Amino acid sequence: SAHPAGGEADPQKLLTPVLSAHWDESDSYTLAGYRRHGGYRALRKALAMDPDDLIAYVKEAGLRGRGGAGFPTGMKWQFIPQGDGKPHYLVVNADESEPGTCKDIPLLFANPHSLIEGIVIACHAIRSHHAFIYLRGEVVPVLRRLHLAVREAYEAGYLGPDALGPGKGLELTVHAGAGAYICGEETALLDSLEGRRGQPRLRPPFPAVAGLYACPTVVNNVESIASVPALVDKGKDWFRSMGSEKSPGFTLYSLSGHVARPGQYEAPLGITLRQLLDMSGGMRPGHRLKFWTPGGSSTPLLTDEHLDVPLDYEGVGNAGSMLGTKALQCFDETTCVVRAVTRWTEFYAHESCGKCTPCREGTYWLVQLLRDIEAGKAGHADLDKIADIADNINGKSFCALGDGAASPIFSSLQYFRDEYEAHLAGRGCPFDPEKSTAWA
Ligand code: NAI
Ligand code: SF4
Repeated sequence: SAHPAGGEADPQKLLTPVLSAHWDESDSYTLAGYRRHGGYRALRKALAMDPDDLIAYVKEAGLRGRGGAGFPTGMKWQFIPQGDGKPHYLVVNADESEPGTCKDIPLLFANPHSLIEGIVIACHAIRSHHAFIYLRGEVVPVLRRLHLAVREAYEAGYLGPDALGPGKGLELTVHAGAGAYICGEETALLDSLEGRRGQPRLRPPFPAVAGLYACPTVVNNVESIASVPALVDKGKDWFRSMGSEKSPGFTLYSLSGHVARPGQYEAPLGITLRQLLDMSGGMRPGHRLKFWTPGGSSTPLLTDEHLDVPLDYEGVGNAGSMLGTKALQCFDETTCVVRAVTRWTEFYAHESCGKCTPCREGTYWLVQLLRDIEAGKAGHADLDKIADIADNINGKSFCALGDGAASPIFSSLQYFRDEYEAHLAGRGCPFDPEKSTAWA
């Protein structure tokens, strides 16, 4: 398939608006607006297919989970045991909260029916009769629109007693969480949905085997499920004509920070940050890129040396980072990397659920030391200490939050150790003219 990273004269041509194609229309969030552009056409096609064939089709298309980990969606659906006599559930993870990630919330706000259509198709595939959307509670306007869209879908018969065929019903429940980052971790989300305090469960068993109410459960990200109708409607070859061999298709990138035009850009997987900046007006005038994240703060930082790394699971992987949520936070030369890392670490310490010691204690210690470094109260030994603490969190914590907290520490020390050193020995932050005389 065509890899888009090879030079394209007009960067705008790289845009592939699918989910975001009609966001500028005032009724894009309504059933009428969705149907005007072919909405719910894929559903008819999917319901005519055998569920197993549908799963095989999504597998062959190569759709990978858009929540961060990139796990193959069709394979996840296939894990659901059949003929086991238990209810099966689909749970859509709409608890988007990775720093810098802002794609699912706008998608739900402007195009909630793409998710609802995808949910009905997915439930047909995994033979589920009850689906849930776990939404971040703070986004009240999105919650209202989602409720409206669900009501419209019930009234039109896309949900309800005959949604999957005569007498084969599908219920969809929208649940608003209370705003904890950890509830985006799939097993903490399930605990929260069951009414308990949201803390991760031991995996295995994976949710596919024992998930919601101990029944087989598919937990998928909003964008993954919302991508399914277009894939079914236009076909797997069309889907595979975008992106790279192992990471095919279109996707939503969240671009933020010191850029001229921040926002959501829908383009194939495998394009580069350079191409994204070309299509979005670049960094703010007069400034240059210093460091960036491919997928929020839980993925290792990259620098301006990595502008041409393909944004897919393989390319970014080779550069020593992870693609994650495709949240491209761009920072220019005016940003203190130590300050940015301190701010992220404060976030992890605040959001740590406290279940395991390395993350609960380690993130707290890291914040204390980073604040000392920022304030010019630390010495060289403290740089070794933060590296050591991060090492004792990484891979030794109960869930991915701990690893996420360690990753900006490692990568910032790798690329910007000199900047940490410029803070030491009473000098303080070189980017704060009132506090420091050191640095440039
Ligand atoms: P993971 O790689 O452990 O699992 C990915 C998915 O595959 C899960 O649904 C898991 O149940 C399933 N899976 C993996 N192995 C399986 C097996 N053997 N059998 C059945 N199912 C299996 O990744 P995890 O911990 O679920 O998520 C980490 C990612 O989340 C990171 O890449 C990060 O970027 C992302 N993230 C996203 C956030 C957001 O706001 N969207 C927030 C924080 C992190
Ligand atoms: Fe909780 Fe952090 Fe341990 Fe995850 S790593 S279980 S968030 S304490």
